[in-house]
Amino acid sequence: MAKVWSKRFDNSLNPFIEEFNASIGFDRKLILEDLDCSIAHAKMLGKTKVLTSSETLQIINGLEKIKVDFLEGKFFPGPPSEDIHYCIEEKLISLIGETGKKLHTGRSRNDQVGTDIRLWLRKEIDNLDILITDLQKSFFKLAETNIYTLIPGYTHMQRAQPLSLAHHLLAYLEMFQRDRERFQEVRSRVNTSPLGAAALAGTKIKIDRDFTAAELGFEKIYKNSIDAVSDRDFCIEFVSASALAMSHLSKISEEIILWVTDEFSFAKLTDNCSTGSSLMPQKKNPDVPELIRGKTGRVYGHLQALLTMVKGVPLAYNKDFQEDKEPIFDTAETISSCIKAMTILMNEGIEFNIQNLSDTVEKDFSNATDLADYLVGKKVPFRDAYQVVGEIVKYCSEREMLLKNLKIDEFKKFHPKFDEDVFVDLQPLNVVKSRTSQGGTGFTQVEKEINNWRKKLLF
Ligand code: ARG
Repeated sequence: MAKVWSKRFDNSLNPFIEEFNASIGFDRKLILEDLDCSIAHAKMLGKTKVLTSSETLQIINGLEKIKVDFLEGKFFPGPPSEDIHYCIEEKLISLIGETGKKLHTGRSRNDQVGTDIRLWLRKEIDNLDILITDLQKSFFKLAETNIYTLIPGYTHMQRAQPLSLAHHLLAYLEMFQRDRERFQEVRSRVNTSPLGAAALAGTKIKIDRDFTAAELGFEKIYKNSIDAVSDRDFCIEFVSASALAMSHLSKISEEIILWVTDEFSFAKLTDNCSTGSSLMPQKKNPDVPELIRGKTGRVYGHLQALLTMVKGVPLAYNKDFQEDKEPIFDTAETISSCIKAMTILMNEGIEFNIQNLSDTVEKDFSNATDLADYLVGKKVPFRDAYQVVGEIVKYCSEREMLLKNLKIDEFKKFHPKFDEDVFVDLQPLNVVKSRTSQGGTGFTQVEKEINNWRKKLLF
């Protein structure tokens, strides 16, 4: 197939270079966006009288026909077209003849491709918002039924203080909420139209950028034509927001992987969501969270690739930008599939060993802070109370005892202010219950948060 620009050249392109240069293998994903962009552009050229109404109609009908053929599987964009933009233009000309050659009036592939990827990303972000909301609901349902289930809380992966399991799960709802907010912020910048910037300088053809922007649902237009065709910040922002969201998914994945080990036994995976081993008959493997944890790396990699792609690239469009597509396509696909898998895992794949969890928090020193706070309640300065409890913990560890196993007389030897009621404060359920500060794990606080989330998620 002759290139659009073949008249300017003496020789045809080396076949390997032709393939190397092409993006049709991946940018065909943008076909519907490219068609919508072209339909809006053609309508605008009709409105400004650059095209006659009959030309406009022919072009729009031609583009609509390509859309229908594609959706019905009768048209498949591919080589020898160089990219999706040429592919559609070539197809249009083959369908409607000479008039098709007028579609590209007053625009360039530079503003066109920028428009396409923004339309595509906007749709992906809207879809992600729905998926993350479903993910939040799956966490919420587990939280709602586990307000009074206790789980050890860790810092440095050492037992720290017991928590309400619901509180632990609600921490993820907060992270996912920030992810949603971040995607919305990215969306507001994605939703800006570069169309009409043409190659880089604008055009002398009579165009109406506000019209095409409104047709395509963009909130605003780029103010500077050079910036419009050179800006890939929004791609980086999208992958960056995705990378952070993946870090949250990877964090819960890692926790689940630990929880389902024999060593922790905090939870088990149901048969719906675990896999066996080809050799060891006893195995049930947490492949789903492991895959999510593993896939996080690809998204981080895409972020690095995009940041490097724009580094030191002079204004305006440079072919480097063709490399923006695969990272954003793969990021969107990876994060969507990971969110869906995690939602299924939470809905039907995990069962907490509630008995084991409550036994576990009985057998450690995670109530030591409460012993110190007990003395604080009796007007002992915190630092002194802390030292006293340090000695008690040492004393108990050496004797393989827990704090609750000490007799009251032994407590009194460490500090005279200890009394019988200290044993009440040491019970894990009371330890959790007492954390009534705002945002704390105390049951009243957690119940309040559960109610807030129920309203927010519109249950
Ligand atoms: N396939 C190209 C891309 O994805 C389209 C824009 C080409 N523009 C150009 N001036 N060569 O970036």
